[in-house]
Amino acid sequence: MTTIAVLGAGYVGLTAAACFSHLGHDVIVSDINQIRIKNLQDGLCPIVEKELPELLETGLRNGKLQFVSDNSVAVSQADFTFLCLPTPQSSNGDVDTSFVQAAAKEISPFLKPGSVIVTKSTVPVGSTKIIEEMLGRSDIAVVSNPEFLREGTAVHDFLNPDRVVVGSSSETAARSVAELYSKLNCRILITDPASAETIKYAANAFLATKISYINAIAAVCECVNADILSVIEGIGSDKRIGPEFLNPGPGWGGSCFPKDTIALVKIAETAGYDFSLLRGVIAVNAEQLQRVTEKILSRKPVGAHDFKVGVLGLTFKAGTDDLRDSASITIIRNLQERGALVSAFDPTVKAMDSINDLVDVRFAAASIDALTDCDVMVILTEWPEFALLEPSEVLKVMRSRSVVDARNILDRDKWVEAGFDYQGIGRS
Ligand code: UDX
Repeated sequence: MTTIAVLGAGYVGLTAAACFSHLGHDVIVSDINQIRIKNLQDGLCPIVEKELPELLETGLRNGKLQFVSDNSVAVSQADFTFLCLPTPQSSNGDVDTSFVQAAAKEISPFLKPGSVIVTKSTVPVGSTKIIEEMLGRSDIAVVSNPEFLREGTAVHDFLNPDRVVVGSSSETAARSVAELYSKLNCRILITDPASAETIKYAANAFLATKISYINAIAAVCECVNADILSVIEGIGSDKRIGPEFLNPGPGWGGSCFPKDTIALVKIAETAGYDFSLLRGVIAVNAEQLQRVTEKILSRKPVGAHDFKVGVLGLTFKAGTDDLRDSASITIIRNLQERGALVSAFDPTVKAMDSINDLVDVRFAAASIDALTDCDVMVILTEWPEFALLEPSEVLKVMRSRSVVDARNILDRDKWVEAGFDYQGIGRS
């Protein structure tokens, strides 16, 4: 029976733990946050993530999943220890690996002889080797096994991966980690550690590049009166380009893209390469936040004394309760700095204290309440329920008839017919 320890009960750790238990492994999760662990022991899932509560419940019930708040206890019986700890961005743009390093130091004496450490956290290229040296144990191999999970569909992504990447200087250790995924019908790529670590950054940077590219093309569409939806269909039909990940929006955010793109620029710079393309991708994203802010501000009725904006969506994308680096938060701050009064609604963000860095926002209990008395309705997150809003109902509560649909999810013709001034991204 394979026993897996997972250190870190965040988005990645919890998903990995629940899915490994679903695949039949015995999993023990440890986190320093004792309240979170207590809740998990009681079957309470701390994050909004499709299918995760069900897997956690099954794992608890059949005894395949356990939660503790002691790393040494978790690792002492484990054949594999997955490091799923935060790797935040430090003030100079470098990746802060202190949590990972501290954990490696702490667990070193307790690791089961011959067991394998696996880094799932996104760590700078070279970290696998550094952790190996830090452990100072010749019997323990370290393997890089980056995650490619999208929040909101993380369980599905884990169980249906496009590929699993395993990088190690020990072929045997790499193969033993690959074996953990043997029930999944997917391609397993075994590489050296630096290549595995690079794949993770290169994948996220490429995806961010795709979105910045389409946001830039949307800006061109607005200048030349083209419709971005037709353009996407036209270019996405080319197999070499593909239709995926080409939706323009208010700018990419979340816990990965902003941090990983900056990190890759830094990693390249330190290694002697000026990644000007990626610097451009990051700059286009900053521009996009500004462009959407200006688009909203341009809806202020002429001669009005104040400007009231009803924002729908606070999370960085739909399907999650995650507000980290959300375009919505930045745009709200920008609007407030320019004197706008903001009310907001998000289906997963209920508590004011989870957004305590946002001040003076009126939080509503429903979309229609957020729009009451507003000059413009702004969609910043693509929650499907926003697409179901009826223009006739919205009309009754708003004081002006303006819509900025920063995710292009509304039926434009319907809103225009109802008398709204509609602005999308790359289409009007
Ligand atoms: C991402 C990667 O997709 C995943 O593989 C990686 O391991 C972690 O980072 P995630 O951050 O959960 O996942 O979200 P993702 O769905 O990739 O979206 C990232 C950002 O891009 C969001 O702000 C989203 O709204 C935006 N986006 C995405 C667009 O603006 N347009 C798109 O077409 C797709």
